[in-house]
Amino acid sequence: MKFAADFWKMKENGEKISMLTAYDYPSAKLAEQADVDMILVGDSLGMVVLGYDSTVPVTMDDMIHHTKAVRRGAPHTFIVADMPFMSYHVSMDETLKNAARLLQEAGADAVKLEGAGDVLLKIKALTDAGIPVVAHLGLTPQSVGVLGGYKVQGKTKEAALQLLNDSLKCQEAGAIALVLECVPYQVGEEITNKLAIPTIGIGAGNRTDGQVLVYHDVLLYGVGRVPKFVKSYADLNTTIGNALSDHIQEVKSGAFPSESHSFTMKEEELLALYG
Ligand code: KIV
Ligand code: NA
Repeated sequence: MKFAADFWKMKENGEKISMLTAYDYPSAKLAEQADVDMILVGDSLGMVVLGYDSTVPVTMDDMIHHTKAVRRGAPHTFIVADMPFMSYHVSMDETLKNAARLLQEAGADAVKLEGAGDVLLKIKALTDAGIPVVAHLGLTPQSVGVLGGYKVQGKTKEAALQLLNDSLKCQEAGAIALVLECVPYQVGEEITNKLAIPTIGIGAGNRTDGQVLVYHDVLLYGVGRVPKFVKSYADLNTTIGNALSDHIQEVKSGAFPSESHSFTMKEEELLALYG
């Protein structure tokens, strides 16, 4: 199992960090078996697992429930759990309690918070309390209403400088790593070069220290059109769809279950029973 210091070392050595989301026991188990460096229990679960149309409806209880399952599936992998919408904005007290739940109750190793600004104080307080924090800048989906949609961030000089400045502040506040979402690759590279902590990109080009993608996007599993920055390595929609309709057809035709999928009795027992 890797920890924060191992990720810092990987950055130093120029060794790429792989991160995937997982939301339940099987996804976590398969990600760990595939030797991923860290797992994110993303609040993207709201969309890909729970069927909401944004991450906003996801609750602390949802995150706890799913993080527990992920921990059971990946007992030996560093797990980052997203703090869901509004769980770190109301008060410092509530922020600390919510983050502590994700570690103590659910078994996460770190929490992830979106944004800088007022969030910097939360990153510092959590870090001071011994809770490792991963920062998240660029496109921050919990603020989609404020950002005006899911759009590439940091495209102007001003926006890029602001992102760099915020990234440095997150590092100063104690963040152990930074997720950078949907920015031009040049901005991803610049921030990666300026930071001592690892950057994990998603739609941020290939110069970041690591990459994260959503499990269901990588597998094309239950999702339709995927964003430009996603590469799907399988097509589970087709695989699963075909398997399910084959099964249903065999049930209808009586081809399933065959003898090999059925139990039987010994001949003499059968004779004793029915003559
Ligand atoms: O929730 C999520 O999946 C994320 C990643 C896209 C970084 O926050
Ligand atoms: Na998220």
